[in-house]
Amino acid sequence: MQIARIMQILEVAEVAAIEAAKWNGRGDKVAADAAATEAMRTAFNNIDFSGRIVIGEGERDEAPMLYIGEELGRGGEEIDIAVDPLEGTNLCAYNRPNALTTIAVAPRGALLFAPDTYMDKIAAGPALKGRLHIDKPPAENIRLVAEALGKPAEEVNVCILLRDRHKALIQAVRDAGARIRLIDDGDVFGAIAAAVPGTGIDLYLGSGGSPEGVLAATGLKAIDGFFQGRFDFGSDEKATEKRTRAEAMVKGTGIDLDGVLEQDMLVRSDDAVFIACGVTDGEMVDGVRIDEDGSVTTSSIVMNAEDKTVRFVENTRR
Ligand code: FBP
Repeated sequence: MQIARIMQILEVAEVAAIEAAKWNGRGDKVAADAAATEAMRTAFNNIDFSGRIVIGEGERDEAPMLYIGEELGRGGEEIDIAVDPLEGTNLCAYNRPNALTTIAVAPRGALLFAPDTYMDKIAAGPALKGRLHIDKPPAENIRLVAEALGKPAEEVNVCILLRDRHKALIQAVRDAGARIRLIDDGDVFGAIAAAVPGTGIDLYLGSGGSPEGVLAATGLKAIDGFFQGRFDFGSDEKATEKRTRAEAMVKGTGIDLDGVLEQDMLVRSDDAVFIACGVTDGEMVDGVRIDEDGSVTTSSIVMNAEDKTVRFVENTRR
């Protein structure tokens, strides 16, 4: 993807973060999400491309903006877009770390239409590629991380979403002797941070949203990191309905709904870019900062799978 196009997409993430950040700590996650979504949609519509949302705010009948299938832009190059306009709505509402605006872009047909169900995920840095497996017990994966990173299991830091469904996983990680960075929300950050040096996170484990899985897989592909997933439809009364919808969404991709989802199944092109802009401060990027002179500074990460570059971009608007 041309650098000029990437800059345009970066700007979309930035303006959405600026609008969302106005709601930092105001306790209203709905308003924060709406502000990010509206800003993102307006900015996308100013771009000279034919964008199509493949992962967005929901189905057409439930989301007024950035719904799955929505066409955006002024016409031109055909690009598929995955967005979570505000990843970690509660993180923003309560001013907790790592609320982000997130976007992944790739040529038409390259990003999986991810069903709205949970996905079990495992993510780590490049050194762990081909070594870890989602079906290995946590203790074994932690041992492999420790070995690859040249430190004892006690120094391995595993990021996990704080959820009741993760009780057994958390216990297993503790039993393996590793540290845990429990996060309230935001597993796109958790998964990508596992491959970004300096975040202090070595491994991501646990289940979160499938759409978030595709976004994270794009970033991890760019950094040559490791990612595997598996859909989890649950076992409640909605499981069958979710599975039927998922079947329709992955039709023609050859994806086995119960099988291991490799990174390249979720992101089927090297010409893919992941961008996240900080809304609140975090370990990977800073949140939106307003200085005394009124200038607004945003911090973003731009991960390009085509040339395997990771750029940290700070941008000040006066
Ligand atoms: P929102 O941004 O929609 O609030 O979602 C945040 C999030 O924590 C994701 O990062 C994660 O994938 C998902 O929610 C987990 O879902 P749940 O809260 O149902 O466990």
